[in-house]
Amino acid sequence: MTFTVRSPASSANLGPGFDSLGLSVPLYTTLRVTPQDRTEVVPLGADLAGTPADESNYVYRAMALAARRAGRPLPPARVEIETDVPLARGLGSSAAALVAGIVAGNELLGRPLDDEAVLDVAAREEGHPDNVAPALFGGIVVATLDRLGTHYVRLDPPAHLGVTVLIPEFELSTSKARAVLPREYSRADTVHALSHAALLAAALAQGRLELLRHAMQDYVHQIWRAPLVPGLSDILEEAHLHGALGAALSGAGPTVLCFHDTRGPTAPLHRYLHGVMARSGLSGRVIDLPIDTVGTVVERAGNPA
Ligand code: HSE
Repeated sequence: MTFTVRSPASSANLGPGFDSLGLSVPLYTTLRVTPQDRTEVVPLGADLAGTPADESNYVYRAMALAARRAGRPLPPARVEIETDVPLARGLGSSAAALVAGIVAGNELLGRPLDDEAVLDVAAREEGHPDNVAPALFGGIVVATLDRLGTHYVRLDPPAHLGVTVLIPEFELSTSKARAVLPREYSRADTVHALSHAALLAAALAQGRLELLRHAMQDYVHQIWRAPLVPGLSDILEEAHLHGALGAALSGAGPTVLCFHDTRGPTAPLHRYLHGVMARSGLSGRVIDLPIDTVGTVVERAGNPA
């Protein structure tokens, strides 16, 4: 019987939570899976034109990862893939595809893997858990990947916390944005990073919205990536003057995330972000999004499973 799997986009790092902190937003990759006697992979929509329509598709390879972890062969199926997650923009499009694929493979196999195993397969494949954990669980997730497993704490988003994203039109590959990072950091930078990441996690857990802009300071990755994203440095310095509670590069970029208080207007922040785009020669769009609290959903014949 046909089932669908829907996985959300995500924004990783949130400033200092490099490779360890992320939240999910309601833009989705959706798979429609129908067991049948042969494998068919069908990417749908203009955004996926050019992605492979066979077993080399990233989604299908993710399904196969679930089978490998379960130690079983993957049953054949027709897999239709759609997405409204912008690709290569720092909004976790590959994590959404990876998580949706692993969950779909697990579902086809009769769910031999529990959520922790699904997360661990995804985090090991991606190399860090900060996009895949919120894509799987929704909300805000603090996570770490080590030799023994992927360990995480999921937080419900604080009341009144909303997200505004500036999504540039240009693409930036994660590998390019990781290649510009230093190999080593000083003790001062390390202490700065871990104290801010810890403060940010605690502020998010307790809904201390007034601390966000201080806690989101980062010298681990954003200063190195700023030359790749016109306007980023200005936004990190100035967004709080225009209504943002804090600002960060979203994942490896080029999307920039600002937090806002949902009780206030976001028009001044939008005007400011459009102004930065204009003076930086950037084109793109600015949208407000809630934080997705649901994560990945499997649905069979209209019933969420
Ligand atoms: N934490 C990752 C990075 C997210 O910043 O490179 C993108 O995959």
